[in-house]
Amino acid sequence: MDNPPNRTMIKAKMKTTLLLVTLVAVGAAHSFSADKKIVVGFSQIGAESGWRTANTESIKSEAAKRGIELKFADAQQKQENQIKALRSFIAQGVDVIAFSPVVETGWQPVLTEIKRAKIPVILSDRAVKVTDNSLYLTFIGSDFIEEGRRAANWLAKASGGKAIIVELVGTPGSAPAIDRKKGFEEVLAKYPEMKIVKSQSGDFTRAKGKEVMESFLKSTDAKQITALFAHNDDMALGAIQAMEEAGSKPGKDILIVSIDGVRGAFEAMAAGKLNCTVECNPLIGPQLFDAVEAVMAKRPLPKRTTVQEGVFEQSQAAAELPKRKY
Ligand code: AHR
Repeated sequence: MDNPPNRTMIKAKMKTTLLLVTLVAVGAAHSFSADKKIVVGFSQIGAESGWRTANTESIKSEAAKRGIELKFADAQQKQENQIKALRSFIAQGVDVIAFSPVVETGWQPVLTEIKRAKIPVILSDRAVKVTDNSLYLTFIGSDFIEEGRRAANWLAKASGGKAIIVELVGTPGSAPAIDRKKGFEEVLAKYPEMKIVKSQSGDFTRAKGKEVMESFLKSTDAKQITALFAHNDDMALGAIQAMEEAGSKPGKDILIVSIDGVRGAFEAMAAGKLNCTVECNPLIGPQLFDAVEAVMAKRPLPKRTTVQEGVFEQSQAAAELPKRKY
């Protein structure tokens, strides 16, 4: 007959059982979180501006901070590359797809494919035009129309409602180019002595902004120009270079208002070469991944989330410069 277990043996057995239960629990928790690692596919437009670089950095660093696996694709400014990236995210079976659409139209077919694959879509920074808004879950980004209005209101005040304006437009067909123009012109309609005399795309890049401004300055009526509205700071910075090379004084001979609020714009304002920048905040990584986590937890999301932004003039530049995060 077996001897009955003594107290020490019972205690030892209990300890072993407890340890095993703990190990199993830890193992389960570990494999649970490992299995549940969120995978996000993000298609970025490219690296056309200082704003875009800051936006990419905000998205990458926030994903890393939260332990989210980010499959990042740079589309080099091409919609076809973005569509390819979105299809490859479907093939890889990511949990959430997010992207910043280079242009507004042409997304319906690929978004329908994503919907069929039951992958939620978050629009980041720019909107799309689709007939069925259920093709995306939510859109996080700035109010570009309001930015255009803010730029025009500033110029109306600074010029006393009288200005011969040249306009450097963003990427043709993109939401910020369409909306900023719309907002700007909406305000201009109230000022009969403020007129846009030339308007051309500088594709949101510094090089193109410089090139287009050079051609504006070579035109026969160049001497009439009193103001520049640039749809982003990078194009304004390129235009400033063009003005200096042509012997005119940016910020004095020609008033300049642009959009974004990148550090380079604050430096130009502090140097008296740019007059105003309307902020467009690229640091939306935290909001984007809040939305991703909400989707994964099946929490409801608003269809639209905007970003808080300000307007900055030359007089604020020096004090603001050290505080700029992008
Ligand atoms: O979509 C945001 C715009 O895109 C920024 O104003 C511009 O700098 C960028 O390239």
